[in-house]
Amino acid sequence: MLSRSLLAASRSRKTRGLITKIPMTRRVVDRFVAGERLDEASPVIQGLIAEGLTVTVDRLGEDTLDANNAAATRSAYLTMLKRFAELGVAGRIEVSVKLSALGSRLPKDGAQISLENAVRIAEAARDAGTTMTLDMEDHTTVDATLAALRELRTEFPWVGVAMQAMLLRTEGDIADLATAGSRVRLVKGAYREPASVAHQHKHEVDRAYVRAMKTLMHSPAYPMIGSHDQRMIDIAHTMIAETGREPASYEFQMLHGIRTTEQRALVAGGETVRVYVPFGDDWYGYFMRRLAERPANVMFFLNSLVKR
Ligand code: FDA
Repeated sequence: MLSRSLLAASRSRKTRGLITKIPMTRRVVDRFVAGERLDEASPVIQGLIAEGLTVTVDRLGEDTLDANNAAATRSAYLTMLKRFAELGVAGRIEVSVKLSALGSRLPKDGAQISLENAVRIAEAARDAGTTMTLDMEDHTTVDATLAALRELRTEFPWVGVAMQAMLLRTEGDIADLATAGSRVRLVKGAYREPASVAHQHKHEVDRAYVRAMKTLMHSPAYPMIGSHDQRMIDIAHTMIAETGREPASYEFQMLHGIRTTEQRALVAGGETVRVYVPFGDDWYGYFMRRLAERPANVMFFLNSLVKR
């Protein structure tokens, strides 16, 4: 119930206005977001790399209805990729991109504009010697995201995509994506979705996650296990042992600031772990989804308000 209300609030302009104006919100946001600017996020990213982790960087933003914003997002990614190439760390850093931040929701030619922006970012990723992954947004965007993925992969076959186990359609989509070289980040799903399109209970989502993971693990695709759930990680390890997968043929992924000890323990065990590092001033939607995932985060947030 709380989670659903928070997810509804994540899309409310009124609540955004309220929450982002509370000075103490920042302290809680900092736990999940690496800074508002790239120069704030850079030390965080380099620190993770120094510890043997790899990173996917997300420049926060979503649902833009302004073509200038979409262009600014594209420019921010191009600058970021150039900077990583100069630092010589591009092989360990890739980028995550939301098509709605690149203009997919613009009323006129949104799909084309966002695809063109994504192509520019993919070119910059290629020039920097790295890769890019498309985040998945709510269920209304899945067809368009997969269409953009198909286009992008004709020229940049290493472009990956996030797939949400909670959606009823995902098992079929994963079966289509389970081909050689296909980079698929399997996640549970962070959006509020109706019962007509999505599993509504955690145990159903978990079971769907395991089924999708099995398809990926038994295929020539490159599975990216995007979960903090210890049971999913343990099941992944069992499947890796069963299938005899080499360490270079899959990776684990977690979000910045969540289960950081486990991230390092997996690295110490010889696994590739990629941390999703978001930065930028448009953190409201991302932050609210993180609150919704865990009631303890809401308590932490409320406590910080009371203690101010
Ligand atoms: P689950 O929610 O069952 O949590 C398992 C355990 O993890 C919890 O008990 C807790 O210990 C810890 N945990 C989980 N969330 C936490 C939080 N917010 N704060 C503190 N602890 C937490 N979603 C999406 O719809 N589109 C996308 O593109 C992506 N991209 C993405 C990339 C990466 C790298 C990850 C890891 C996740 C995503 N997600 C996503 C989010 C994903 O869909 C999901 O909402 C979260 O990962 C939480 O699900 P878990 O699998 O961690 O399990």
